[in-house]
Amino acid sequence: MQIRNHSCTVVRRMKQVIPVMVLLVLTACSDPSGTDTELFDPGMAAQTWNTADKVWNTDELEILENGKSLYKSRCSGCHQQAGTGSTTIGAPALKGSAVARGSTDILIRTVLFGRGSMPAFRMSLDDAGLARILSYVRNAWGNDMQDIVRVSRVAAIRTAGG
Ligand code: HEC
Repeated sequence: MQIRNHSCTVVRRMKQVIPVMVLLVLTACSDPSGTDTELFDPGMAAQTWNTADKVWNTDELEILENGKSLYKSRCSGCHQQAGTGSTTIGAPALKGSAVARGSTDILIRTVLFGRGSMPAFRMSLDDAGLARILSYVRNAWGNDMQDIVRVSRVAAIRTAGG
């Protein structure tokens, strides 16, 4: 009886670990700055992102749209496209997250260097790519921070180290 219980625990644990490992491989193996995205349509992007109290310029809209596709390929496997997270994987929701909406420096550090079972992205995302993803995360799903993460800030934190 004891042995059976034990092996059940192992199987259950494997079921949690294998999807995370598959995701890690998938997320580590693509273009670091997200230039492999669909064609940018400024008109569509303006409709998506502009609100009564925030009008983004074309460069900013392109960053948000690029960030969205990068987020889809690198982060949504664990955090979900709607930013709601996954209890199976233990990935918290980024929608409404105090970290996503808090200090930009801490947010950058979390994703560059990882945290707990959250993988580090310093090897697989460059400064521009990470700045785009985080700009998206700070504004998607009603996070509404109305700011763009600066590439130079990501570069500085990367250089300073974890
Ligand atoms: C393999 C699964 C996985 C992937 C892929 C992943 N994360 Fe995470 N993420 C996690 C886990 C698990 C945690 C919780 C870490 C902990 O327990 O400290 C987390 C935590 C976070 C947090 C802290 C949230 C909070 O409110 O505490 C942020 C921000 C974050 N991730 C952003 C991202 C971004 C941006 C990406 C894509 C570049 C990404 N994550 C990709 C699993 C993942």
